[in-house]
Amino acid sequence: MHVEEFIPNTPQKKIGEGSVGFTSPSNIALVKYWGKKPHQIPANPSISFTLNNCKTETFLRYTPKTSDGFSFEVYLDGKKQPEFRPKIEQFFERISIYSPFLANFHFDIETTNTFPHSSGIASSASGMSALAMCIVALEALVYEDSDAQFLKRKASFLARLGSGSACRSIEGGFVVWGAHSSILGSSDLEGVAFPFEVHEVFKDYQDAILLVDKGEKQVSSSVGHNLMHNHPFAKERFQQAHDHLDALIPILKSGDLNAFIHIIEREALTLHAMMMSSDPYFILMKPNTLKVINTLWSFRKETQIPICFTLDAGANVHVLYPKRYATEVEQFIQNKLSGYCQNGQYILDHVGKGVEPIKI
Ligand code: DP6
Repeated sequence: MHVEEFIPNTPQKKIGEGSVGFTSPSNIALVKYWGKKPHQIPANPSISFTLNNCKTETFLRYTPKTSDGFSFEVYLDGKKQPEFRPKIEQFFERISIYSPFLANFHFDIETTNTFPHSSGIASSASGMSALAMCIVALEALVYEDSDAQFLKRKASFLARLGSGSACRSIEGGFVVWGAHSSILGSSDLEGVAFPFEVHEVFKDYQDAILLVDKGEKQVSSSVGHNLMHNHPFAKERFQQAHDHLDALIPILKSGDLNAFIHIIEREALTLHAMMMSSDPYFILMKPNTLKVINTLWSFRKETQIPICFTLDAGANVHVLYPKRYATEVEQFIQNKLSGYCQNGQYILDHVGKGVEPIKI
């Protein structure tokens, strides 16, 4: 698979002004992407499931123009957001060879999230995948391309260039990103639907996101990823991610929850162990993160309910559990864990379907 297939080679059609809109969800990684090579190539393969409720809704309004260069405004909840410009400018620069029509339009990018910005849940994943999908929808008009499957693949390819984890939000369910020898079709360039059988228990798996700390991230993911260069444990970590993904293939098929929990929690703690052992080192967990983990472990021991946690590059905790235990677990979260969340806040979510068009 080569990047060339994503460079258009047909003539552009002239189109007038208009708009396209998509919602795209966030996703939660089970095997984590942490460390990357140039051009947003992951240092190891990762797998996530796409969420349902934590979403970004983006409209891309386009007006033809003749001047050179990129021209755009970004709005969040109707307000201009100049601080988002550099990230989008960089994104446009990275993708302009694959979407050469971008300079022919002025864009108003209007976006809203269903979750608080910088709550530590991956708004870059949902935001960049929604924008990538809008750009690809415009591409379909400009090149009169109606190959829906190719366009979705291209959206994942472009989203990756905006934010790595975003390429796993286009498809629903379980998505793999990064070449893995046991997963035919897996690629460093785009997310692909996990191609093997998935047990019923995982098809509607639940994710309660506990907002332990909603502050701005202490360390951006880009800085964090870079700390894996020359990291003393990098080689072992990257190998471990390959091994964990191998181990997950039969687990996702059989529904063996104990084995699942073991890998998922190990991944979360390894991610943070990598941050704690980089140079410079940092701790993104907060005291309440550890309180949540310990309380969850006690609950699991007492009740034998197979819940577990995972973490992103922040203090918030994702509590994962099968739907059949939703009542007990949600009561436990409300009674015992919400006290460790800022303003008692948490978000209940579950496996979702990926990007969807918004009818305009
Ligand atoms: C810890 O996708 O946010 O959430 O490619 O620099 O935008 P960039 O990084 P990003 O990294 C996410 C890291 C993670 C693990 C994961 O989602 O796999």
